[in-house]
Amino acid sequence: MIVIFGSINMDLVARVQRIARPGETVLSRRADSFFGGKGANQAVAAARVSHGGPLRVAMVAAIGNDPFGTACLKNLEENGVDVSAIRVTDEPTGCAFITVDETGENAITVASGANMVLSAADLPQSLLAEATVLVLQMEVPIADSLEVAARARRAGVKVLWNFAPVPAVKERSAIAELLAVTDVLVVNEHEALAIANIVGEPSGDDYLKAGAEISRSFGPTCIVTAGSRGAYAMTPDGAQTHATARPILPVDTTGAGDTFVGVLANGIAEGLEIGPAMERACAAASLSCLTAGAQAGMPQRKALEQHLHQA
Ligand code: RIB
Repeated sequence: MIVIFGSINMDLVARVQRIARPGETVLSRRADSFFGGKGANQAVAAARVSHGGPLRVAMVAAIGNDPFGTACLKNLEENGVDVSAIRVTDEPTGCAFITVDETGENAITVASGANMVLSAADLPQSLLAEATVLVLQMEVPIADSLEVAARARRAGVKVLWNFAPVPAVKERSAIAELLAVTDVLVVNEHEALAIANIVGEPSGDDYLKAGAEISRSFGPTCIVTAGSRGAYAMTPDGAQTHATARPILPVDTTGAGDTFVGVLANGIAEGLEIGPAMERACAAASLSCLTAGAQAGMPQRKALEQHLHQA
């Protein structure tokens, strides 16, 4: 089983010609709502590629007692995610305000709401006992994420941590604590450089050097996702594995990183080596960019296999 401990949001999305600068107002024809939240996106991505197989996907999360919460819960259920550990709280369901420009790039502000009252106690030991991979991100309380990661490691569960969005931590010790309970760290180029800066290994704009330093200094496999350049895995022995991304014309890149993480978690849980697991995750992430909304373009197992076969 894959267990995702993380965020659920409703995404309110406006398409714009270009993203507003501070102090500026830009117009959009309309706003659309989509299911989102890094945790929920990763759960849906993992569930879709697990579909038809023996792997189950469960989500541990918090939502509000409101229409957004009800709709998000239903969406997860419809995607085959076990929602038994999702708690309904007095806080509003998380909401993300997203603008997407003509090139598919986005800017996101998250109003966390219920995500910030998620607690380590929400993860039942019974669920952890069935898990092989635990997936975490940075949109719920970090102290609670650290606690569940430590519990997972003690139970022999692999911890996959997506360091997004970059939190406002400045201390090396905070990063060291997180990496001490992480088997696989997934970051994009900016997040890799941000971590390298915090831990005192500034790498200029060389994200591969940053990833290699993070892995060598702290021990986890460090995967850096690099958009159209694919993804790179670095291990403490200095080895590097590259997976390519196929060229696409993106409609909306929102959730591409989450698709990568969810499908990677599935590959690891199925026992794939890191290279093939990343190839599959890159292909799924590319496909996810062809449709508007974080989750709409995430492929089902069969579509992903067909795509990989054709390529
Ligand atoms: O990674 C994309 C996600 O980030 C969006 O769905 C939004 O909810 C924010 O959490």
